[in-house]
Order: sequence, then C-alpha cells, then structure tokens
Amino acid sequence: MHHFHYKDGRLHCEDVSLDAIADEVGTPVYVYSSATLRRHARVIATAFEGMDCLIAYSVKANGNLGVLKTLAAEGCGADVVSGGELLRARKAGIPASKIVFSGVGKTRAEMRLALEEGIHQFNVESAAEVEVLSEVASALGQTAEVAVRVNPDVAAGGHPNISTGKAGDKFGVPWDDAETLYARIARLEGVEAVGVDVHIGSQIDVIAPMRAAFERVVSLVKRLREQGNDIRRIDLGGGLGIPYRTWDNPPPPDEYAAMIREVTEGLGVQVILEPGRVIAGNAGVLVTEALFTKPSPKRTFLIVDAGMNDLMRPALYQAHHDILPLRERPDSADQISYDVVGPICESTDKFAAERNLPVIQSGDRLAFMSAGAYGAVLSSQYNARPLAAEVLVDGDRYAIVRRRPTFDEMVALEATPDWLT
Ligand code: LLP
Repeated sequence: MHHFHYKDGRLHCEDVSLDAIADEVGTPVYVYSSATLRRHARVIATAFEGMDCLIAYSVKANGNLGVLKTLAAEGCGADVVSGGELLRARKAGIPASKIVFSGVGKTRAEMRLALEEGIHQFNVESAAEVEVLSEVASALGQTAEVAVRVNPDVAAGGHPNISTGKAGDKFGVPWDDAETLYARIARLEGVEAVGVDVHIGSQIDVIAPMRAAFERVVSLVKRLREQGNDIRRIDLGGGLGIPYRTWDNPPPPDEYAAMIREVTEGLGVQVILEPGRVIAGNAGVLVTEALFTKPSPKRTFLIVDAGMNDLMRPALYQAHHDILPLRERPDSADQISYDVVGPICESTDKFAAERNLPVIQSGDRLAFMSAGAYGAVLSSQYNARPLAAEVLVDGDRYAIVRRRPTFDEMVALEATPDWLT
C-alpha cells in the first residue's frame, strides 16, 4: 500500500502533484511519502504488538534525515552498518538504546563511537571482529553487548546479488563455528554475548526460507543456553519483500509476524527486526523527464534525464520498477515498446527493456515507482552529474530534504596541487 495515485489526471504523492514538485525542484527528483512510511512502520508494529520486539529500521535502505525523523517519531529504532549511519540515526533523534550495529567490517573508530553512544547491540560477524571489539571496549572500561550473526546456510532473496545466508557468502559466522565463538566470547573481557543474529537476504517473497533459518536460530539459542550463555535476544534481520509489480505477492507483515510468534513461542527473548525495504521501498518514487526518443532498427529508445547514477537497481540487479507518466493516459492510449535509458555512457544505464508505455514526448515526466529503498542511498555523481534532489511530502505540504548540489559544491572537496596552479 502506498500513497501515489492519480488525481484529476495527475500523479500525486498524497495531496501534492508530482508535477508541482518537479516544476519547483527540477528533475531527477526523489519524492517520499510520509503517510506511506508511517503506515508501513505501524503495520509492522501492529503485527508484532504484545511481543517484546524492537523494530530497528535498516538505515541503509534510505538514510535521509527526513525519512529517519519520520520513522523515529513512530518509535522505530535503527539498524546501522557504519559510523555515518549511526550518526544519522542519532541526529534524527533515534535513541542509542534502540540502535543495533551490523556489518562485516567495523573499524576500531566506529566501534568506539558506538560504545560511547551506548548502542543496544553489536552484531558481530567473525572471531577477529570479536577480538578487536573486546580490546576496544575494555580500553573504554565498557562491556559491549553482542549477538553473533550466524550463517544458517539457507538460500533466499530476490536476486543472487542480495542473498546473504548461504554457506559461501561473506556474511555471518559459519554455522558449525558458532558455538566455539560463543565459548570464546565468554572468556573475553569487554564483550558479553546476549543474542543470536541472522539475516539471510533481501526482497524475500516466501516465508519458508525465513522460517527454516529462524528455526535453526532458535535451536542454537537453546544449545547456547545449555552451555551457560545468557541469550536473551534474537535478531532476525530484514529481508521481507515488497510488490514491485502489481502481481508480486510477498507475504504480508502479519503472516511474517505470525510465523515469528510461532517459531519463538515460549523462548523468552526480545525479538529484534531490521526491516528496510518493506518500510521505505514503496514510499518513494524517482521523477524524471523524457529528453528524446530515438528509433533504431531494433529498438525505440526513450532517453530520460535520470541515469544509473541516480537509481542503480536496474543496472545492479536487473530490477524492475514500474514506470508511470505523471499525466494519466487512458487505458486505450496507443502504446510503444521502449527501451528506457539514461544519459550515462554505459550500456548498463538502462531502466527497462522493451517496456510498453503510452507514447512519450520530449518534456513528458515519468515516475519510477518503488524507488524509496536502495535508490538515493546508492546514487553517485558519476559523469559529474549532481545528486538528485530529495523531497518529503506530508499531506498537502512538501519540503526539499536534500537539495541538488551546485557545481561548486560538487568540486568543493577537491584541491589543486601546487604544481598545477
Ligand atoms: N539487516 C541486514 C544485516 C542487511 O544486510 C539488510 C540489507 C537489512 C537488514 C535490510 O534488508 P531489507 O529489509 O531492506 O531487505 N541494494 C539491494 C538490497 C541490499 C540489501 C542489503 N542488506 C537492492 O536494492 O535490492
């Protein structure tokens, strides 16, 4: 469910016409719906009501401060994977006590920052990381509460590039090594094992692999407790898929929650969840303007002013994003099969191949739907293109939450060596 709909023939975000935003802010521009963000946060919170549950929104999906503040006001915590994300979450007002720090490669400086902030939990991914965390925490006179991210050897996820839970993946501690690592942690200063963590992939559209992974985690919790570990939390990661196409049918949050309730029944743990895409994905679109059409012997190219630097997902994962014209067309309108491409000098700069769309003229605007997660956060200034602006809508009002940088700002961090002046 989202709040992007046609009203009076114009595509709106809530009560604001996307054309009005593009007129003021220009294109390409990301537009986010507060109502959709809130709705998704509430649907998840409601699904887990009555359980001891921390919903730690995965900041990597969309770390814009406006988005984070909106979710902070809904009571969300944060799952962060860098010092930068941690500072973003804190700046947005998310209490440190609701922040978990994931990721395979934390630096000592990042560990120190997180300890000084007083975060809820470190999700550790290797014996080497545990040793370093032990050193850093001990030096500060602190004890870091940790959960070991285990690799349950379960395949899941919408694309091989976003599957993380198989034995050959870089993520998590190999299943058979987990108990030894917990025993090691018990002997180390500065670290205390309080939980078990798992995250098997993203854009998962079936319950079964999640259930299989979570059941393995529960069995591990029981064994670890028998071995004397006081395991009181399980972190089940993110990964719940969203509908990118109208016919996609990922499990609804209440089905996901019912499965988790069943699997964790009687275990007496706090359940931590790290949803990213399911909260932010359908809460954002990328608005672009058609520049030219170019018929060629095999294809008709529609060249737009957004590029793969603005929205990487199609280039990285062959991801599908619905494309809607900002001006509604009748269902009976003539259609053309377009290859929708950007201006970047790369063949992978293609948003859609052979996509049937109504006839598009130069100057028409289009929205790439479901671009709220892993959209702006993955963007770059490749080809010296400024980052797209970001706008947050709330009812009938909107605000620019990240403006497009000027050329001077884009080169401001560069310096000319004296031999070139
Ligand atoms: N927790 C951990 C440890 C993760 O690695 C991720 C995502 C999440 C939570 C949030 O997963 P979600 O609920 O959003 O599925 N760029 C890719 C997705 C990469 C996901 C990386 N990890 C894409 O655009 O599809």
